[in-house]
Amino acid sequence: MADQYTQLRREWGALAPKWIEEARTGGHVHRKGMLDGYMLSLCGDVSNLRILDCGCGEGRFGRMLARGGAGYVLGVDSCELMIEAARELQSSNEEYVLGDAQDLGFLADASFDLAISYLNHCDLPDFAANVREVFRVLKPGARFIVANLHPMRSAGGSWLRGPDGARQHIMLDNYFAEGERHLTMQDVGITNFHRTLSTYVRGFLWAGFTIEDIIEPTVSPEMVAKYPELEDELRVPNFIIYVLRK
Ligand SMILES: C[S@@+](CC[C@H](N)C(=O)[O-])C[C@H]1O[C@@H](n2cnc3c(N)ncnc32)[C@H](O)[C@@H]1O
Repeated sequence: MADQYTQLRREWGALAPKWIEEARTGGHVHRKGMLDGYMLSLCGDVSNLRILDCGCGEGRFGRMLARGGAGYVLGVDSCELMIEAARELQSSNEEYVLGDAQDLGFLADASFDLAISYLNHCDLPDFAANVREVFRVLKPGARFIVANLHPMRSAGGSWLRGPDGARQHIMLDNYFAEGERHLTMQDVGITNFHRTLSTYVRGFLWAGFTIEDIIEPTVSPEMVAKYPELEDELRVPNFIIYVLRK
């Protein structure tokens, strides 16, 4: 397990410089044009809340929450470069620490009002460990908002194209074969983990959460006009958001 953790951290370490640059030069269109709106609206009024962001990356969502009035945001990420970058821009009510989202032993029980996982479960070999840990550190009644790759997409499968190159439909295969998927992001090899929808749902329920909502984000015509790359999001789901309550 330790070897796998080291290897996964190495992958994110290799991707981090490009990831950080993209985040800070207007990239990450799926977040900006689609997911951020859903996530912020689901978080609601964050005034004075203590919020945990698991797999916070270079801190973009933590900063949004802090700007929205959060009392304290703690971002945890296993990649040093991401944490260093997040610290460069942090305000006085944000903190970013190096750590494994699957083992939050350094955090006290029932110490957060809200927890976020924004595209992190697909990176974890043991997402259920993160879910159990988040359940432990949340106060009773607090919510855990999880955005993840949609299981229909994390299984793998690209567009089937017609002779003219037009996208006909997404190919889905090996849905029940859970485990590693190897992809390339900005020329860097990254390992993701695919699980079925029922595996995720059971992981949440078995940790003790109730599921308040499941959302399959799509885009508005206005957002497609602004970000034409998002047109596919009108056809097939790419992401899924779970709203969980302790
Ligand atoms: C897809 S990025 C998302 C980053 C950020 N949440 C965002 O939306 O921009 C996944 C992040 O998870 C981090 N990560 C991967 N495995 C982790 C682990 N075991 N514990 C904490 N963070 C992890 C990576 O370093 C990376 O920053």
